Amino acid sequence: MTDHHARILGDDEQRGAVELFRSALHAPPLTDEEWASARDVECAGRRHGVTDGDTGALIGTAWAWDTALTVPGGGVPLGAVTEVGVRADRTRRGVLSELMRAQLTDMAERGVVTAGLHASEATIYGRFGYGVGALARDYTVETSRAQLRPEAPAGGRVEIRDLETVIDLASQAYPAMATRPGMLARPAEWWGMLRAHLARRAEGRVTAVTHEGKDGIDGFAVYSVDRPKPGSATLKLVDLHTATIDAFAGLWRYLLSVDLIGEITATNRPVDEPLELLLADPRAVSTTARFDDLWLRLVDVPEALAVRAYQGDPLTVEVTDRLLPANTGSYLVGPDGVERTDRAPDLRLDVAALAMIHLGAWRPSQLVDTGRAQALTTRAASRADRLFSTPTAPWCGTFF
Ligand SMILES: CC(C)(COP(=O)(O)OP(=O)(O)OC[C@H]1O[C@@H](n2cnc3c(N)ncnc32)[C@H](O)[C@@H]1OP(=O)(O)O)[C@@H](O)C(=O)NCCC(=O)NCCS
Repeated sequence: MTDHHARILGDDEQRGAVELFRSALHAPPLTDEEWASARDVECAGRRHGVTDGDTGALIGTAWAWDTALTVPGGGVPLGAVTEVGVRADRTRRGVLSELMRAQLTDMAERGVVTAGLHASEATIYGRFGYGVGALARDYTVETSRAQLRPEAPAGGRVEIRDLETVIDLASQAYPAMATRPGMLARPAEWWGMLRAHLARRAEGRVTAVTHEGKDGIDGFAVYSVDRPKPGSATLKLVDLHTATIDAFAGLWRYLLSVDLIGEITATNRPVDEPLELLLADPRAVSTTARFDDLWLRLVDVPEALAVRAYQGDPLTVEVTDRLLPANTGSYLVGPDGVERTDRAPDLRLDVAALAMIHLGAWRPSQLVDTGRAQALTTRAASRADRLFSTPTAPWCGTFF
């Protein structure tokens, strides 16, 4: 237990909180100029803080801004949790636990149905009810081996534009691209974060392109090229989103045609992105990492379950939630709706395990096989697999 108390910080406390977070990540302090350009974004959303009982100094902080999460069949409000840090001389005394309790309680009271974060370490957030809701991969493309197959979709037009124009066009077109479960709405503040992120990149020149199909802008890419010495250079993809497979193929046709590039590195991409299927030599693509992308927390379990679409026959799911006990209970879940029930459960799991199957990152039977969930009736695991199945792997694809 803890005697710490978290509260929402005021505008005059934001910079101190950001610096506390940066010191926890061993990042250098922001200059006055960097703070001036980051201030509007950093003051948006809600930032909790814990102060030391004796000195009054800030010793822990956690920030969240409001957005929306794409789920199978719809969307729900999501609190995007980030900039979490505790002062190094006050760790392991329950400060984070108090911040998480206060932040999740605040979201529950405000009707924020889900919370999501990118974790610095995979062992921290499970105890607060977060589970790995979406995976991602990094890959490298060897350009000399990468040619599109003749039947790859063609058409549309790729155009280099200045970054501001691309951000303007992309922010308008993005909602039509954010259809994969796990993706986030990107409010104006997020595009401000992208600008700040690109401005801080020391290396390489940043280029931004759009893809225009028959219905207008349907894809965009932002990349930098690192060419430390003469010879072949590395093109680093920063952001690439598309609404259609034609736009995806069109942007990759362009990227592979850029001169002097030996390899393209793509980070934080969907695990089932079909680039290999477009190439004559699929081994031109090497997956270099596969990792937990979005940690998801269902803050309002009945509402989160009700908004999502399902396949197959209904099932009774018993959920336990230590931190937000109002979620604990049994739910009859099926394509025709979700309701609380007294029926005996088919599947039993905690709220973190529920988050792992909610967007389709894991099959319920995988959780049953590994002891993360319990199947209590015949064929419960395979029925749950069908119930929660999704056509594509979930992916977040938005840093925060
Ligand atoms: C990670 C961090 C926020 C934890 O803060 P904290 O105040 O020490 O956490 P708490 O004391 O509330 O710990 C709660 C529980 O989490 C565990 N825990 C905390 N940090 C952990 C870590 N890095 N790895 C594994 N377990 C961790 C504690 O042991 C404790 O376990 P218990 O419930 O079994 O007792 C803090 O160490 C930190 O700021 N680290 C550097 C920055 C960072 O990684 N931020 C997270 C960005 S996503």
